Amino acid sequence: MRTPLPPDGLIEGISSDIDPFGDEFLRNPWPYLEELREIAPVVYFPMYHIWGVARHEEVTEVLRDFTTYSSAAGVGYTNMLRDKPWRVPSIILEADPPLHSKTRRIVSKVLTSSALAKLKTTFEERAFELVDQLLERGCFDAISDLAEEFPLAVFPDSVGLQPGSRQNLLRYGAMVFNGHGPRNHIFEEAMKDTDEVRDWVNAQCSREMLAPDGFGEQIYRSVDTGELTEEEAGLLVRSFLSAGVDTTVNALGFAVLDFARNPEQWAELRADPSLARDAFEEVVRLEAPVAAFFRTTTRPTEISGVSIPADAKLLVFFAGACRDPRRWDNPDSFEIHRHPVGHTGFGSGIHSCVGAMVARLEGEVLLGVLAKRVKRIELAGEPKVRLNNTLRGLKSLPVRIYADD
Ligand code: HEM
Repeated sequence: MRTPLPPDGLIEGISSDIDPFGDEFLRNPWPYLEELREIAPVVYFPMYHIWGVARHEEVTEVLRDFTTYSSAAGVGYTNMLRDKPWRVPSIILEADPPLHSKTRRIVSKVLTSSALAKLKTTFEERAFELVDQLLERGCFDAISDLAEEFPLAVFPDSVGLQPGSRQNLLRYGAMVFNGHGPRNHIFEEAMKDTDEVRDWVNAQCSREMLAPDGFGEQIYRSVDTGELTEEEAGLLVRSFLSAGVDTTVNALGFAVLDFARNPEQWAELRADPSLARDAFEEVVRLEAPVAAFFRTTTRPTEISGVSIPADAKLLVFFAGACRDPRRWDNPDSFEIHRHPVGHTGFGSGIHSCVGAMVARLEGEVLLGVLAKRVKRIELAGEPKVRLNNTLRGLKSLPVRIYADD
């Protein structure tokens, strides 16, 4: 059963004909998000029969009230409790308590700060190697040669994946994040010839394929203690692979772009490379690489005076909240000293990014190494956007970098 529509399909004062999954929106969402924030605290999109929130206050309110705004029907457009999803749902991202509480606790036990501290030296060695090679080249594509290269060099090893075929992770990420959207041309494109990639990913998630001591094998230890079934452990390892690659690739790509466009911020980072972690956080606020996810209402509810029926899909624009002028001064400007505490680039509430510490480590290390070695970053061509139903990212970013004297 779908929620009833008013006779004209519009809801007075809050309807918008903006298409949040249209090419124009996905290419440059910022003017549209501004319009959505101005229309009302909650907007209705008749073309999809969905509701949306784009202001910081309402976005955080929704994310924190997980009993009213459920993730169990999927965080994409499809209601997975009604329509068959294209893959077995995630048991962390697409789950509510009590299942979510259990899986979240197990993943958090693996991704501790001491586990990450142990990885820092390896990450730094790989970053220095990569940056030194790129300095020799001078001119390169900061997406394929840097933003994809670095996470693919360090993250799958941390999980304990076999060497080889790691580009498959990018294809899988495209399937997962485009799969959260409606069946538009971007969805269809990402889902072409996917059996091979899906089988490869599922195979990587089995216990016998994972290296000892990686995050993956550590998840499987909860099978030995009886907390998880073998199948659940595999699905949690899959969550690392789904959520842990394209997200950081996009954030790192935007970091390079933001510094190329703001050389004074680059000078500040170079003057004090210990600001690298803060700088990366500001990139995540400013760019919101995960732009929006859905929730589904479990009962009729009201947000800031606007009624929403039960069983309605509600699009939560993390990106809208990240640049809401009600919350941030100069929200569109890149300021590495900002300390954007409370930004929603990593979400908020019980589902807030469980891998944020891993992403921050990658960002801190790569930006820190670049700041130590690279005097200047210049654009060497126009950046090109990669259209994705959920993620914001670039497909190419030609740059030239100059070595420190
Ligand atoms: C800059 C990079 C990243 C960004 C911007 C990002 C963003 C997000 C956001 C916005 C959410 C909230 C989803 C929701 O509320 O429905 C989330 C959840 C999640 N992220 Fe990340 N993420 C990043 C990197 C990572 C990495 C590296 C991993 C794996 C190590 C990861 C694993 C997850 C998982 C498993 C969840 C679901 C958590 C839950 O439902 O409790 N993410 N992420």
